[in-house]
Amino acid sequence: MLPQEIIRRKRDGLELSGEEIAFIARGITDNSLSEGQVAAFAMAVFFRGMTTAERVAMTLGLVRSGVTLDWNDLDLPGPIIDKHSSGGVGDKVSLMLAPIVAACGAFVPMISGRGLGHTGGTLDKLSAISGYDVQPDVATFRRVVREVGCAIIGQTDDLAPADRRLYGVRDVTATVESIPLIVSSILSKKIAAGLDGLVMDVKCGSGAFCDTEVMARDLAGSLVTVANQAGLSTTALITDMDQVLGRDVGNALEVLETIAYLTGEGPRDPRLHEVVMALAGEMLALGDLAPSVAAGRARAEAALADGRAAETFARMVAGLGGPTDVVENPGRYLAHAAVIKPCTAARPGHVVGMNAREVGIAVIGLGGGRSHADDAIDPAVGFTEFVDVGTKVRTGSPLCLVHAAREVDADEAIARLRKAIRIGEPAPPPRPVVIDRIVE
Ligand code: URA
Repeated sequence: MLPQEIIRRKRDGLELSGEEIAFIARGITDNSLSEGQVAAFAMAVFFRGMTTAERVAMTLGLVRSGVTLDWNDLDLPGPIIDKHSSGGVGDKVSLMLAPIVAACGAFVPMISGRGLGHTGGTLDKLSAISGYDVQPDVATFRRVVREVGCAIIGQTDDLAPADRRLYGVRDVTATVESIPLIVSSILSKKIAAGLDGLVMDVKCGSGAFCDTEVMARDLAGSLVTVANQAGLSTTALITDMDQVLGRDVGNALEVLETIAYLTGEGPRDPRLHEVVMALAGEMLALGDLAPSVAAGRARAEAALADGRAAETFARMVAGLGGPTDVVENPGRYLAHAAVIKPCTAARPGHVVGMNAREVGIAVIGLGGGRSHADDAIDPAVGFTEFVDVGTKVRTGSPLCLVHAAREVDADEAIARLRKAIRIGEPAPPPRPVVIDRIVE
């Protein structure tokens, strides 16, 4: 087979065979495909798309490029279940969900990413806890999953290495936004993690990669179909990302919000709670730890209420090198910003909408996110007490508190937020946070 002939066939809109796609995936892995050929293939797929069969073949080709984790030898007394989000602003759901479902008997080996662009990354949030090792050796990862029930760590080099090469090329050739390539990229890493089941949280709205419901449905539908055909039981929820999720945005600030949520201290944001519980119900039902999603949700509520989820979070942090008392004394281990300043409403009315993407970009402006993959970040900065869409405000009412390293940064963020948060009339109708559930 010749790479250029396969690229030509895809360029001309023909369906590739399983063998052809496997050949391409091998060529990406062993470098027998040049950078130019990988880029041309990605661009051909971007314009011509892929059938479901091609997507399944691509996913499995990327899986075969590296190792697949095997949990069988640990004889775990429960299913291996994970959740993956397509990324949002204020999305700290993984930090809450992994310990909740682990406390209900699931095992969650969660391999997460760093933030890039306007969306935050789970790994950056956990890195804000002093001592937490996001890149432990495999033995430590497996031990924490076995002993605690969950471990959240960074991508390892040996899972789906062809995806890393392909993603690197896509990133610099304007081919990231291709549903078939996104589906195979996400699912290859999840299948390589040796899961029994996966729940996808496909975010939809201004703060998400999918900014329309049509796109979110397209992505969620394909993820569910391709994953199931590739042998991984998967369901998906489409959830709202047209406003910040929860009350706080920023790495250390979201860890604080997580600890308050798990311990029941302070108000619980109802939209965030709804997303966490809906996903927990899905995960527990998928793993046969509950007879239905509703029953799974009830189990999750109980694990949260009686403190088991908070204890599991604490044990995960300690197991991965963090402090043993982070839940009791979070302020000791998380950085604080030097400047805290309110962003206030410039006019009276209702918060009628929000550009969540701009809020994420404002966090980058404060130094809390990255413009380039190797940028250092300031974990302390961000926003707290973020206003909800629908809230009635007067002139001067706080829309949020800005946490910044310098006064000038806080002022810049305030100017950006005032543009991102739209105030007007009438009050918008309430929007459900879980938009739809997608199953096979
Ligand atoms: N996340 C991934 O892992 N891959 C993509 O292609 C997009 C988002």
